[in-house]
Amino acid sequence: MKLYLDTANVEEIRDLAWLIDGVTTNPTLVAREGRPFMEALTEICQIVSGPVSAEVVALDTQGMVREARELAQVAKNVVIKIPLTEPGLQAVQKLQSQGIPTNVTLVFSANQALLAAKCGASYVSPFVGRIDDAGGDGMAVVQEILTVYENYGFQTEVIVASVRHPRHVVEAALLGAPIATVPYDVLKKLFAHPLTEAGIARFLKDWEKVPSKSKPGQG
Ligand code: G3P
Repeated sequence: MKLYLDTANVEEIRDLAWLIDGVTTNPTLVAREGRPFMEALTEICQIVSGPVSAEVVALDTQGMVREARELAQVAKNVVIKIPLTEPGLQAVQKLQSQGIPTNVTLVFSANQALLAAKCGASYVSPFVGRIDDAGGDGMAVVQEILTVYENYGFQTEVIVASVRHPRHVVEAALLGAPIATVPYDVLKKLFAHPLTEAGIARFLKDWEKVPSKSKPGQG
């Protein structure tokens, strides 16, 4: 399973660069950083060799394709994030024919994901947290998408997005989702367990009873 970091913050990306397989951004995350977008994107692509998703904001196909071409020139690993609209999927088709990878975003149903795959999306991002927030079952939608893709052999990869807590990551992994994109604070929580901390404290305390001459690093 691949883990992407869902952030535009370069400090967070640097901290976890050794672990992560890619990065996803969106206009909200970019705005939070308060710095020029292209500058931030260039820096992120220098830190991370895996896919880095950058989103277009135009609403018409031509505008999206124009923005996408500009973003794609920043680095080889840029993936163009396109919202799931009719003009968006037309842009995905055009970009696919030009060899520019896309991540279709704001996906909330298996039918939307089916259309994205048919149009040649490289990735599709179902927003599990926002589906849950609206009273739905985000992981059930992911399961449906995975089944549909499996049924027809679509190559589009599912990125479980809008992840809110560690349980979302486990559930995505149990479903066999190929990728989850995870906010920094949630990813940090994946390392932690209170019994790990307690176990280390106890081992260190007991270690004090072992004669120091026999310990590694003492000689
Ligand atoms: O990057 C897209 C997605 O992960 C956004 O998450 O928490 O704003 O629903 P959220």
